[in-house]
Amino acid sequence: MTRPDHTTTDAGIPVESDEHSLTIGPDGPILLHDHYLIEQMAQFNRERVPERQPHAKGSGAFGRFEVTADVSAYTKAAVFQPGTTTEVLARFSTVAGERGSPDTWRDPRGFALKFYTSEGVYDMVGNNTPVFFIRDPLKFQHFIRSQKRRADNNLRDHDMQWDFWTLSPESAHQVTWLMGDRGIPRTWRHMNGYSSHTYLWGNAGGERFWVKYHFKTDQGVEFFTQDEADQMASADTDYHTRDLFEAIDRGEHPSWTLHVQVMPFDDAKTYRFNPFDLTKVWPHGDYPLIEVGKLTLDRNPTDHHTEIEQAAFEPNNLVPGIGASPDKMLLGRMFAYADAHRYRIGANYKQLPVNASKSPVHSYSKDGAMRYTNVSDPVYAPNSKGGPRADPERQPVGWHADGEMVRTAYTLREQDDDWGQAGTMVREVLGDAERERLVDNIVGHLLNGVSEPVLHRAFEYWRNVDKNLGDSIESGVRAKQDEKDPKAANQGNPARSSMQDKA
Ligand code: NDP
Ligand code: HEM
Repeated sequence: MTRPDHTTTDAGIPVESDEHSLTIGPDGPILLHDHYLIEQMAQFNRERVPERQPHAKGSGAFGRFEVTADVSAYTKAAVFQPGTTTEVLARFSTVAGERGSPDTWRDPRGFALKFYTSEGVYDMVGNNTPVFFIRDPLKFQHFIRSQKRRADNNLRDHDMQWDFWTLSPESAHQVTWLMGDRGIPRTWRHMNGYSSHTYLWGNAGGERFWVKYHFKTDQGVEFFTQDEADQMASADTDYHTRDLFEAIDRGEHPSWTLHVQVMPFDDAKTYRFNPFDLTKVWPHGDYPLIEVGKLTLDRNPTDHHTEIEQAAFEPNNLVPGIGASPDKMLLGRMFAYADAHRYRIGANYKQLPVNASKSPVHSYSKDGAMRYTNVSDPVYAPNSKGGPRADPERQPVGWHADGEMVRTAYTLREQDDDWGQAGTMVREVLGDAERERLVDNIVGHLLNGVSEPVLHRAFEYWRNVDKNLGDSIESGVRAKQDEKDPKAANQGNPARSSMQDKA
């Protein structure tokens, strides 16, 4: 019997040394048949799986979701029925940085939740912002490339970022949000999470409702200023990761209260703007928040790789009573994630304990690399051999769609525009000090390598959000440029001179 405190090979065979290779005499050559040394080297070479394309840097924890109110009038989803408690995994992340990048870079934060429900795994893969930069999935790949690294010098490049944003006016609401205080949360515990997308709920009586989720932090929203975040990026690259882990270790279990906004199904047809446009929120005044329950994180992972790095969240994991909406971004995401997991982790990623359903799985999937749960006959459907049968009563919640096949933008409604809600945030939500920090953050960002034609477009972009904001940003940038290079006003590049002539 192998003693529990003795090292073994991966095959469970006791090994004689943790320190010495097998050699011919103490000073002789190493033997090829030292399979233990080879196992150590070969396994090490295969330790990494590819990092996530976006959202590579992150961490998470386990916990529970407890329903504290009664929303059964809106959904029959088991996870949201009164009194239900469900085990949950949460992963928080930045978007553009690589696995070792600083936690405190200015970026949206991922807020991904996996609910192990009694009717299968339900994933709510949201962000800490209620909106997004674009509204068509065809632009997502281009957007992410513009935020990551250049082809030539492999550097991140603000010119590229602002080039994309200013040519994509639908980004204005999210960029305003990103450049404001909430663009750098103090910790993951001190930020909200949003579904951002609209989902469709269906109740037991067959009625349908459009919903948006808001997970409000019970710790309060707190942020880092740009200077604080810059200092923290060098003092502790992994500050957010450490903060969450240590808080849970200390017994301080962070929690969020889930509220939903509920829109009656038929309202969507006539609402004053497209309620499925991901660049917009539904004003609280129109659709107030309704409490649902509480998410609490109380257990740290014991193995980051198997429990967090190999966690596979996918917005297509929707359970009975919850469906998608006509948001084109959400529909695009329904393909992207499972495809990423098959590449990043492998065809049988759903068998890993962190991804596996805790309710029984009766699928006809079979074989593939690293499969280890047994399949049994019959391996096809339909069959007359007693295999599982789909339940025709389980119709998904959906909506009616009809029209010509086209590649075009959403049909515009009366109040569909790119700037309005961003302007409302600047004028009506932010206070004076917040607005000043917004201007400073944008000016600092623009002064970091943004070329003249793009800079010019950026001033117009911000004037479209709010005239005063745009003017303050332009004068802030010009003042700093003149401070740095007083001669530039007279001798600078032609674009710079022509801007001044206009002024
Ligand atoms: P409300 O006054 O009811 O809501 C404003 C919301 O803004 C607050 O509830 C808060 O969201 C959020 N907020 C506060 N400070 C900041 C900040 N510094 N950065 C980002 N968000 C902040 O008005 P409306 O619902 O009519 O929305 C007005 C504007 O507020 C919108 O155009 C949008 O820009 C912004 N907003 C609206 C949200 C919504 O779902 N309606 C959500 C977030 C922002 P929270 O309570 O979630 O913390
Ligand atoms: C991660 C694609 C929009 C939130 C990812 C990943 C891909 C992806 C491929 C990596 C998945 C992995 O390897 O595990 C897309 C596409 C989008 C889109 C194609 C638009 C069409 C969004 C939006 C949100 C979002 C709008 C938020 C509302 C996240 C989060 C993660 C992620 C939180 C990290 C999940 C985790 O922690 O593992 N996205 N994304 N994405 N995305 Fe998106």
